[in-house]
This record gives sequence, C-alpha cells and structure tokens, in this order.
Amino acid sequence: MEAIRAEFPILSRTVNNKPLIYFDNAASTQKPLSVIEAIDHYYRFQNSNVHRGVHQLANEATIAYEGVRDQVQNFINARSRSEIIFTRGTTESMNLLAHSFGALLHDGDNIILTMMEHHSNIVPWQLLARNKKINIKVANIHKNGELDIDHLISLMDEKTKLVSVTHVSNVLGTINPVKEIIYEAHKRDIPVAIDGAQAIAHIPVNVQALDCDFYVFSGHKMYAPMGIGILYGKEKWLEQMPPYQGGGEMIKNVSFDGTTFNELPYKFEAGTPNVGDAIGLGKAIEFLQGFSFTEIIEHEVAMTKKITDILKDTGDVTFYGTSENKVGVVSFLMNNIHPYDAGTFLDKMGIAIRTGTHCAEPLMKHLGIMGTMRASFSIYNTEEELDTFAVAIQTIKSIFE
Ligand SMILES: Cc1ncc(COP(=O)(O)O)c(C=O)c1O
Repeated sequence: MEAIRAEFPILSRTVNNKPLIYFDNAASTQKPLSVIEAIDHYYRFQNSNVHRGVHQLANEATIAYEGVRDQVQNFINARSRSEIIFTRGTTESMNLLAHSFGALLHDGDNIILTMMEHHSNIVPWQLLARNKKINIKVANIHKNGELDIDHLISLMDEKTKLVSVTHVSNVLGTINPVKEIIYEAHKRDIPVAIDGAQAIAHIPVNVQALDCDFYVFSGHKMYAPMGIGILYGKEKWLEQMPPYQGGGEMIKNVSFDGTTFNELPYKFEAGTPNVGDAIGLGKAIEFLQGFSFTEIIEHEVAMTKKITDILKDTGDVTFYGTSENKVGVVSFLMNNIHPYDAGTFLDKMGIAIRTGTHCAEPLMKHLGIMGTMRASFSIYNTEEELDTFAVAIQTIKSIFE
C-alpha cells in the first residue's frame, strides 16, 4: 500500500492542516506519477499535431496517440481499433451517440433508460427527443438499489431501438446485470449502450464477451487526466451512423459540391485531438494493468464493508444502495444532519467526500430525498483512513445532534 500511495503525489498533501483523505473517487480519481510525467514529457519533447505532419515530432506524436488506441482496444478487448473513438469523456461519448445513433431513429421509436442513470445518459436523449418524436421509457429499481430487470424487459417492444444503461450506478454502487440485459435485448434485435464511467476502473470490461453495441467511459475516473474518454462502438453501427462534428480529420475530401468522410475511427474525431491526455490515458491503463481486478475488487469491497460497519455503529444512518453486488460506492444520510453540513465538517478534518444529487436528480426524486453523502473508494485508500473517518463521524454526531 505504501508503494501504491507513493505513486500519487497529491496524497501527501494536507487539507486544513490534516493529511488528505480522498474518498471522492467516483467523481474523479487522483493521478499517478507515471501519468503526470507522461503528459509532461509529451509537452516538453513531442508536442505536435498528429496525422498530418511529415516531420519527426508529428510522427512521434502520431505513433504515441495511435498506440493508445491500440492499448484501449486491448484493455476492453474490442475486435478492431476502428471501433475505438477518442472523446472528451463519457458525457461527450453519450452526446455523440444520441446525435449520430439518434439520426438512425424515426418518429414513434422508443429507447429504454433506467431510474439510476446519470444526467449524461438522460439529457442527450431528451435533446434528441426535442427534434424527433422519440419516447423515453424508464426501467424501475428495487428498494435495495438493484435494477428491476423484469420491468426493463417488459418495456421492450418492436419500436424499441436502444437500451442505454449504466454498468455501475454512481449513487447506489450497484453493478447491473448488463450481460443479461444485452442477451434479452439482442433476442429482440435491440442494440445496447453501456455507460461504463463507474465500472471501468473497478471491474473487468470485455466488450466482445458482453457483446454490447456501445460502451463509453471517461479517462479521469480511471487515473487518467480529465478531457479524454472513449466511445467503443461495433463497426456495423459506427459505419451506419453519420458524423457527430464536422471539421478537419473527419473528412476524406472536401469541396463546395460535397464532402466525403474519413474511414473509422477518424469519421468521429473532428479537429485537433487531445493528444497529451490520450497519452496520459495510455499510462493510466498501464498503471491499472499492474493490478488484477480481483485485487482491486477485494480491496474496494473490504473498504465498503468497513465503512458500512462504522456508519451502522453510529446508529441512525440510512443507506441508499444495499445490493450485495456493488462496487466501493457508499451513499448514506445521517438522520437530522444535512449532508452539506456533514461534508463541510469532514472537509475541515481533511476528508473529501461528495454531497448532493450526484447528477442523478430523477433517482433522488424516486428515493424521495434531496441528496446523499457519498464515499467512494479507490486502490490507494486505506483502512487507517477509515479509522480517522470513524472518529470524524462520531464527532459530527455529537456536535449536530
Ligand atoms: C455513471 C456516470 N455516467 C456518466 C458520468 C459523466 O462522466 P463525465 O463527467 O466524465 O463525462 C458520470 C460522472 O460522474 C457517471 O458517474
């Protein structure tokens, strides 16, 4: 653990004169030195635009950037590198999908989402539905925060053109049975998009084994920089879909009489890409590959179990998301204590957690609450940090009650 933590320079800083305890990993993970140094190295020695130069720097930058595409392909086991599109993150990937896959939909079609989606898997579809008569159906969840899969299946009909569902809930921590969802949807010829933002750094993802049609995620939630993300799509869909944005890179030929588009994956990558952060993503993948997912899961589940016991010991705590099948995300409320007050007090103790709606307002409404406190774990969090958290929580209880 000491060696892992030494990789993350930020973990040795203090906050309010206390050692930083960072439990906000579902919002964004911290970055290891290898990622920080790779970005630094790129800007010091290789910075150049990709694909179009004949000079040495352009070639080096292109090789590095395209090499990361291969790494991502390998990391999620995509069939082809043409299926890996660089984006700014999950949100942009979802907007790309709603725009370009959305172009294939017709008035009267419907798509299915779930009650536990992040806004970025809701609002892009609502924007699409402003221009086309698309119905958005919403699958329910059970009391323990698991998806009501029977309800989801019952929503599928001959007009359903997509099921778009999160792999892991950023509020409840629930790991959804995406393989089963994909199997049921495919039986009815319905493609499935998976929001992998909260899964990619915590459980193994194999897009061919899942057989999902699309899989999207953000680099910054898996130890990579902000501003880089991925849309994986099966070639058969990406070929049919029109481009998202227009500009350089995504074209084959341009004239005022008409423009032809580049081949995959470049058709969906208009303009100068985020080369430096893509290189950071490559290093983050290498970092993650230094662990086994069994190790990661065991560690994060142990943290989840311990924080749950600590909170239970304080009494008067309500948990949101109690499925057995969950990652290291724990949402809770302490009776009669506003999450914002508790979060502010924890910050004074150097402890970073998240409070609020977590970009999931429909879920909050469904749960009948204004927001939660959320602690979310990563490979560098320790049991000792939870001991400090336990003391802080007891102090909050005694002050506020
Ligand atoms: C489940 C889920 N989907 C999508 C997103 C949006 O990711 P980003 O802000 O990196 O685009 C998040 C971010 O918290 C998330 O947790």
